Amino acid sequence: MSTPQPSADGRSRGAVDLSIAPNQADAPEEVDAADEVGSAGVGPTGRPNRQIPEPPLLQRHGPATVVAMCNQKGGVGKTTSTINLGAALAEYGRRVLLVDFDPQGALSVGLGVQPHQLEQTVYNVLIERNVNVNDVLMSTTVEGMDLLPSNIDLSAAEVQLVAEVGREQALGRVLHPMMKDYDYVLVDCQPSLGLLTVNALAAADGVIIPLECEFFSLRGVALLIDTIEKVRERLNPKLEISGILATMFDPRTLHSREVMSRVVEAFGDIVFDSVINRTVRFPETTVAGEPIIRWAPRSAGAKSYRTLAREVIAR
Ligand SMILES: Nc1ncnc2c1ncn2[C@@H]1O[C@H](COP(=O)(O)OP(=O)(O)OP(=O)(O)O)[C@@H](O)[C@H]1O
Ligand SMILES: [Mg+2]
Repeated sequence: MSTPQPSADGRSRGAVDLSIAPNQADAPEEVDAADEVGSAGVGPTGRPNRQIPEPPLLQRHGPATVVAMCNQKGGVGKTTSTINLGAALAEYGRRVLLVDFDPQGALSVGLGVQPHQLEQTVYNVLIERNVNVNDVLMSTTVEGMDLLPSNIDLSAAEVQLVAEVGREQALGRVLHPMMKDYDYVLVDCQPSLGLLTVNALAAADGVIIPLECEFFSLRGVALLIDTIEKVRERLNPKLEISGILATMFDPRTLHSREVMSRVVEAFGDIVFDSVINRTVRFPETTVAGEPIIRWAPRSAGAKSYRTLAREVIAR
């Protein structure tokens, strides 16, 4: 899959100017605040609506496709997308493993786990050779979806792994025996491009980049794509960008729509048709410790993540 090439100055070569004049921002426009935009045959990306096929039923499971949910910018919806894409894939009968690969443990919290109460986490499986991954694995309230939780202990792994042989492949080694049991493994990365994230990229088949529809969101994407390309060249030739997911889109603001059209201009077809709107429902689900497709199954947010799951299965 082709991706824009970052140039020496960190901008995407061949990409359009990604800057947006601040005075254009936040001009609220009276657009129907309905949950779904672009009903007249055009999606929020400005592209014609495409028919995404109903996912086929699976007769058996595995081997898993590993997807890293990655963006070194904080608060763009990585964790929210990991939980909800995972839950939507499980709804379509896929077996899903979520890996909390952020020492903040937000993914674990979002699934109702108290990270500080855990005795063993993904950290122990990474660092201690005698720990069995099955002793750390947890089931979730979503049928068919399991979790490898983490907590602050994982922050030590970055330092400890540096001295190890094959330090970039530690997560890959943990996941290897589990691949046969799952259809998708989603790794929720921390907001950095450090060794933990490189481990996720080295173990992954694809990367999903959640991108907030906001003023500075495109800064740093060139660096992320550069990192992905280095990992592909040096560690993991199969690594691809599965897609860019626009999050926190507000169809009522010109600003959001401007950012969206820049993103589509810059990245083209790798931008998912599914777009996640900004809604208070997502922070609510974190408090509830449940994915939105269970907390508010008929909400627009739940629908968007279901469509995303269909796109991911189809790609
Ligand atoms: N579509 C959305 N609309 C409104 N709020 C959202 C949406 N998606 C996520 N949020 C909220 O934004 C905050 C950040 O989201 P999230 O934790 O998923 O981002 P992240 O990229 O994982 O952050 P970090 O980089 O800190 O790991 C959370 O409070 C979450 O509930
Ligand atoms: Mg997160």
